[in-house]
Amino acid sequence: MPPKIKYNTFLTLSINCSLLPLSILCTISNFSSQVTANNKEKMRTDIESLWVFALASKCKSFTSINSICFVLFILILWLVMNIIYWSHPGGPAWGKYKWSKNSAGLTSFNINNYNNNDHFLVSKPIPGPRGFPIIGSMNLMSGLAHRKIAAMAEACQAKRLMSLSVGETRVIVTCNPDVAKEILNSSVFADRPVKESAYRLMFNRAIGFAPYGVYWRTLRKIAATHLFCPKQIKTSEAQRSQIAKQMVTMFQLGGRDIIRVRDALKLASLNNMMCSVFGRKYNLDCSNSETEELGKLVNEGYDLLGLLNWSDHLPWLAELDPQKIRLRCSQLVPKVNRFVSRIIDEHKAQSGDVEHDFVHVLLSLQGSEKLSDSDMIAVLWEMIFRGTDTVAVLIEWILARMVIHPQVQFKVQNELDKIVGESRAVTESDVSEMIYLPAVIKEVLRLHPPGPLLSWARLAITDTKVDGYHVPAGTTAMVNMWAITRDPDVWADPLEFKPERFVNGAEGLDFSVLGSDLRLAPFGSGRRTCPGKTLGLTTVTFWVATLLHEFRFGPVDNNSSVDLSEVLRLSCEMVNPLTVRVRSRRAQQKATPNNCN
Ligand code: HEM
Repeated sequence: MPPKIKYNTFLTLSINCSLLPLSILCTISNFSSQVTANNKEKMRTDIESLWVFALASKCKSFTSINSICFVLFILILWLVMNIIYWSHPGGPAWGKYKWSKNSAGLTSFNINNYNNNDHFLVSKPIPGPRGFPIIGSMNLMSGLAHRKIAAMAEACQAKRLMSLSVGETRVIVTCNPDVAKEILNSSVFADRPVKESAYRLMFNRAIGFAPYGVYWRTLRKIAATHLFCPKQIKTSEAQRSQIAKQMVTMFQLGGRDIIRVRDALKLASLNNMMCSVFGRKYNLDCSNSETEELGKLVNEGYDLLGLLNWSDHLPWLAELDPQKIRLRCSQLVPKVNRFVSRIIDEHKAQSGDVEHDFVHVLLSLQGSEKLSDSDMIAVLWEMIFRGTDTVAVLIEWILARMVIHPQVQFKVQNELDKIVGESRAVTESDVSEMIYLPAVIKEVLRLHPPGPLLSWARLAITDTKVDGYHVPAGTTAMVNMWAITRDPDVWADPLEFKPERFVNGAEGLDFSVLGSDLRLAPFGSGRRTCPGKTLGLTTVTFWVATLLHEFRFGPVDNNSSVDLSEVLRLSCEMVNPLTVRVRSRRAQQKATPNNCN
């Protein structure tokens, strides 16, 4: 029997048995869950079931005396339903899903479609905390979510796979490399759950949040061919080298030897992306209104995307916009549009021999690849946005570790002196000969992955199985990379900072952090792995090599220590920006200020 017929029969039966309020409640419940369960389900409303309301309005029992009792009855039923939902492992969103599937008769559908053995797996609930009624485990997703989730998985003995409810969103999380591989490399999880802020900030038209399909594939291909391919990365070496020199000059000319490195690193990354994407070249130590304006736009977008938006998970809050996220997005988007449109228009007006950048590439696309102006704005904005913070955040963690472990810093500097010498600056081909520096960077990525929960989650496109459990379509999947990289079952002495493990340890020199080994995959893995990983890693390694070749980084004074406390925004950053004492290592060369004109 088709599920819909069963459902209507169920409603009719309910009414015949004087269970009208329950039927209404079921309808409300199903109606709201269909509208809110996930992005695709949002579009689906079951108009047929509204006939229950029409029946209700005709019912004679709705007199004034009974109204209060009826409302009370509805309230009690609502409470009971929510407690029933909440009692399910994983909390209310999972309970609601199971309950609605059972009442829609889909369980029998599943039984018919799986063999006996599979059906056992289908009905086995994924272990996980119930959290609170209605909001589930939303509290785990705020603050240092990676730590809270790891602790909860440990407590529930659900490190391989744990279910959670974040409001009405069903979530699965793994802290296990094998299960992480299963999720990230599965085509079922090639989509992303769209956050309202991402949608409003146009990221659904860019690579990161575009639904899995032709448009997303086209964008990835364009970016891979023109921005992230080895040839293009090589071409942009001169630009990275120039920015590295400017950073050195900036540190030398500071007039002080105590420096807050974050500001310089963020500006350097922003300038680097502005050059690759927009073709704009600015000196680091010369303020200019364009960089300042873009920096502010990126910061605001970064804040908005990093926030846990309650309305994403409790859709009945959406109209209220309690955190003012929608309002802030609506103020930011016109500014981004104006900024990027101006640059696109300038490129359109250019003629003659000009250096080619990513805007030129997008403008030159033809046929099925051709992008509208608004899509182009989204793609360009995303590149600036993603390329800026990740690189700066990672370098700050690396320098922090260099201050805490002076012997490691000394070893890197020794290696630099052997390969580069003292009389000239580092080049990227020098860096490719180094062994210890890449090991240091891997070790920092292990202890401080910039995206401890891999930044952006994945969404199940269809029903599937993960680690033997049934996972329904529309479920959000997360990988807790931070927990994996600190798991004593996966890593020896996981909390110790030991770059040597990547030189002569069990992991060895060949250990790749690019996604093939899920014990350490800070750039994700599978179809939606980070497309900018090689560019990001090249930039980070080269700039760190340059800085360590030029300077010795130490604590501000002998009594101060580096505070490794974290804050999780879009990336996981140091709470207190790193402040260091910088001493020049090379024979002091006279630094000359840049000409700002
Ligand atoms: C240290 C540097 C970086 C780190 C740690 C990093 C990390 C990540 C992670 C964890 C993801 C999610 C992967 C997944 O779901 O499997 C991601 C996605 C992405 N990253 Fe990066 N990233 C870095 C640098 C960059 C750079 C430099 C760019 C571009 C200029 C970039 C652009 C992107 C984009 C567009 C996506 C979305 C991919 C998609 O959904 O198809 N990233 N990154």
